[in-house]
Amino acid sequence: MTSKIALVTGAARGIGLATTKLLIEKGWKVAMVDRDGVELKSASAGINAGSAFIYDVSIPDDVDEMMTKIIEHFGRLDAVVNNAGVANFGRIEEADLSLWRAVMATNLDGVFMVSQAAVPHLKKTRGAIVNIGSISGLRASTLRVAYGTSKAAVIHLTKQQAAELGEYGIRANCVCPGPVRTKLAMAVHTQEIIDAYHDAIPLNRYGSEAEIASVIAFLCSEEASYVTGQVIASDGGFDSTGVGLPALRT
Ligand SMILES: NC(=O)c1ccc[n+]([C@@H]2O[C@H](COP(=O)([O-])OP(=O)(O)OC[C@H]3O[C@@H](n4cnc5c(N)ncnc54)[C@H](O)[C@@H]3O)[C@@H](O)[C@H]2O)c1
Repeated sequence: MTSKIALVTGAARGIGLATTKLLIEKGWKVAMVDRDGVELKSASAGINAGSAFIYDVSIPDDVDEMMTKIIEHFGRLDAVVNNAGVANFGRIEEADLSLWRAVMATNLDGVFMVSQAAVPHLKKTRGAIVNIGSISGLRASTLRVAYGTSKAAVIHLTKQQAAELGEYGIRANCVCPGPVRTKLAMAVHTQEIIDAYHDAIPLNRYGSEAEIASVIAFLCSEEASYVTGQVIASDGGFDSTGVGLPALRT
């Protein structure tokens, strides 16, 4: 049987690399996209069913060329995982327009452009889009004026995609991870922040890349054939706690 083809952005490390490996375990072939050429080449070196495509999803010309090359290489596309993301944090008064634009360019514009370029190909396969949001798109927090807003926009973009692309059989869903110990998170999480997250999250721990990847792979698969327009937090219950203050627990 022909392997299904997934395009995973931000595939050089972290959640994107874990998703690539899991999809391959499940029989998919993966177009691994990342703008960090060095890390992408080293990550893809030992992965036979994964091919590296060094492109920046925030640059329109890159997105066009990337899609052309991927279709030339694989001939079809069954799923897109819009995972590439940046987390530049700053206080509202100090977050200048360049920080705001840099975050939006990858986290929001990138998701919009890669999905749009994929639509003609996903129509042919009745494929799936999985966008990676964040707990920060569901719950507001300090320092995340750009990051949190970009992720909230990705959540709504997912619903727009589901509403409009459903008639072609294309499903669109959003996975919102809680904290995971990747390079992105560890650049901004001190030990104090890690301890506070452990306290506040009902499951009392960070998630792993593999735990997020399994939700993504499910949404890419036929097992989720009647699931679209959904936002699934893979966050140890963090989103569900309103007044779940650590101080209220036994
Ligand atoms: N780690 C967490 O705690 C956490 C929590 C919630 C959401 N997320 C989201 O999960 C996704 C993956 O994050 P991660 O923690 O694995 O991060 P990571 O920094 O480990 O990996 C992100 C990858 O994306 C690539 N990338 C960034 N901008 C790009 C661009 N414009 N074009 C192409 N590639 C680009 C980077 O080079 C990197 O390889 C992100 O969207 C992030 O916002 C992460």
